[in-house]
Amino acid sequence: MPETYLLNRDAEETRRLNEQHKVYVTYISPTIDSTTILQLTNFDPYASKYSHLTDHLHSSLGYEIHPTATASLPPNATIADIGTGTGIWLLDIARTNPSYVLHGFDISAAQIHPDFNSSSNLHFHLSDFKQPFPPELLGTFDLVHARLLIFALQAEEWAPAVANLTTLLKPGGYLQWEEINPAPATYVLRTKPTASTTVFQGELNTMLGSGEAIVQSASQVLGLLRDGFGKSLVDVKTDVVSSEREISQRGAATKVMVGVVVGALKQRMASGKEVLDEERVERVKKDMAREVESGAYLQFYVHCFVGRKEG
Ligand SMILES: C[S@@+](CC[C@H](N)C(=O)[O-])C[C@H]1O[C@@H](n2cnc3c(N)ncnc32)[C@H](O)[C@@H]1O
Repeated sequence: MPETYLLNRDAEETRRLNEQHKVYVTYISPTIDSTTILQLTNFDPYASKYSHLTDHLHSSLGYEIHPTATASLPPNATIADIGTGTGIWLLDIARTNPSYVLHGFDISAAQIHPDFNSSSNLHFHLSDFKQPFPPELLGTFDLVHARLLIFALQAEEWAPAVANLTTLLKPGGYLQWEEINPAPATYVLRTKPTASTTVFQGELNTMLGSGEAIVQSASQVLGLLRDGFGKSLVDVKTDVVSSEREISQRGAATKVMVGVVVGALKQRMASGKEVLDEERVERVKKDMAREVESGAYLQFYVHCFVGRKEG
């Protein structure tokens, strides 16, 4: 399938997506405690996905599904996650809601968790969300979720994508979509004036200016998404949280952004935009790690939009 997608899909990116999920869930969890946050930093959901730690995350599940949408869900809710990646968002929901029927959609199966082949309530669809969905799926979902598709959409594609995802909803069903607002992450910040930021800032600048017009300005993207919601849905709400909401998450948030920058570099090399040079990738990773150690960090916001299909 032809596709425009700025990140790569190797094992490192798979780990990063799962790591990122922890960070996101933590941001939107008002009760999660700092001990858990520390544990989360070392937690690999693939290695021990049914540990006490995911139990704790599930006790905070209100933050994964917006409370307005949660309140509307029937006991046997049918939920779709579009651009599901590893399927981590659905896997978390499956644990505490075994009666939910969960469908992950992605244009690639490269990162999907093996449980999607073996579990009766977890289904995977190879599917391009820019194309019409199969007629038998239209109007069948209580909740459709999307997260972090910023790298997959051009400016003119946001509103049609929202409209297309809405076709999957039952009347009265909810669409929930979270995107990062990278505006504060345009500049690598310093905890100390002596901290070094040169390599990190240079790679960030290259990624942001890669000329693909995929990384639009944050306000443009968020405006486009809000407009899309306004056109297709009613009762639209927006929540905004900062990666600094829990200050102890600063390191984990920075790690996520380091991963984005490295992933984009690898993807530019894989696509021939830059010379393939694995040593350079390793060097950049080491330099950025050293800069982070010296006090370089990034902050960003997460915006969550939720809206209801009329009916
Ligand atoms: C950054 S990942 C986010 C994964 C997941 N939503 C999460 O938050 O963990 C973006 C995902 O969108 C998928 N994707 C990109 N373009 C797509 C398209 N046109 N249709 C369906 N999925 C797409 C990618 O394959 C990737 O798995």
